[in-house]
Amino acid sequence: MLSETQATAPRTTTGGLAGLPPVTSDSLLALIAMANADPRPDKIDVGVGVFRDAAGQTPILKVMKKAERILLETQSTKAYLGSAGDKRFAELIRPILLGPHADDERIAGVQTPGGCGALRLGFELIATANPNARVFVSTPTWPNHRPLIRGTRLEIIEYPYYDRDSGTVRFEEMIEGLGSAREGDVVLLHGCCHNPTGADLNDEQWGEVARFVAERRLLPFVDIAYQGFGRGLDEDAAGLRGLLAACDDVLVAQSCDKNFSVYRDRVGSLFVKSGSADATARAMAHVFQRAREMWSMPPDHGAAAVRIILDDPQLSADWLVELDAMRDRINAVRRRIAAADPRLAFIGTQFGMFSMLPLRREQVLALRERDAIYMADSGRFNIVGMADHSIDRFVAAVVEALDG
Ligand SMILES: Cc1ncc(COP(=O)(O)O)c(C=O)c1O
Repeated sequence: MLSETQATAPRTTTGGLAGLPPVTSDSLLALIAMANADPRPDKIDVGVGVFRDAAGQTPILKVMKKAERILLETQSTKAYLGSAGDKRFAELIRPILLGPHADDERIAGVQTPGGCGALRLGFELIATANPNARVFVSTPTWPNHRPLIRGTRLEIIEYPYYDRDSGTVRFEEMIEGLGSAREGDVVLLHGCCHNPTGADLNDEQWGEVARFVAERRLLPFVDIAYQGFGRGLDEDAAGLRGLLAACDDVLVAQSCDKNFSVYRDRVGSLFVKSGSADATARAMAHVFQRAREMWSMPPDHGAAAVRIILDDPQLSADWLVELDAMRDRINAVRRRIAAADPRLAFIGTQFGMFSMLPLRREQVLALRERDAIYMADSGRFNIVGMADHSIDRFVAAVVEALDG
């Protein structure tokens, strides 16, 4: 049976690698393997977490190809860069992410291996500063959050987040659930395009969360892996910026893997804000030490190519055009699915690549067997996982499943 979380194997006591117990594989990776193995030519894989265009492809952005050519031509050394990675990359991400807070000396950023690297590094920093901190995560949340937190041995506590019937955020229950958090506890928030639900906080709710965490002296950790995929670069970072205005201590895990379409190149960054520039500098010294212990230094290629784009006004403008096109497709497909049936209308009110269909597990499995449609057991599916020509078939099969 597939589960949403990756099982962690107990430690073996026999010693030697042969004594290792088997590990249950990540459910989403298992789903991708199952979809790949299905021979039916019209299969639809909406379990995968990458943007696909109208033709069902995940092409390299044109601007990225240009930047990579420039990198190939101009790079003169591959000597080590150090644990901070490409410093100019982090400087260029700063205004895109932080907006009016970009000049705040209490905020420092470092390149990481993707958003996962940033999350892990942030949790390592928290575990170093306060090993008793508990991490509050939304129910549901992206399945890899738990393993990333568990690796640092911090305790995980869930807070209610999503109402499957209405497709909206259970905001009052969320705040109530966070009521048990103690000073110094961490609240993990999705900056935009909540994965797996697509249900984001609205501006007013973000304001309330900011007031709540500031008042209770909690530590907000914002995971923003889809900036620009929801409403726009600034709009998608508005909640995060409100937290920066309200709180002394804030962590942000940022990823370029989706919005630059460089998934396997592992491009991201961790930003840390504390109460003073000195305290932030001290925190960053720990960050570099933790990074050194884990990956020593981040991979260069993808971040160097993003840096080339963001350092050049024309290439930056070209990137924004391609980013807008990705967002437009996500929102157009959302509208098309939402219009097909009143029970799917909620999909048109949500943001980002994912939504969760109100299907039971048996219905999800039936879609897999009968229709060769692959989505997570939870009903999470990738809005842009399918080509345009598959949308009608997908919607018809889902409506049939909902009727059944
Ligand atoms: C919510 C969320 N956070 C972080 C990530 C990590 O992204 P990356 O591939 O950059 O590690 C993802 C990727 O799927 C995600 O969905």
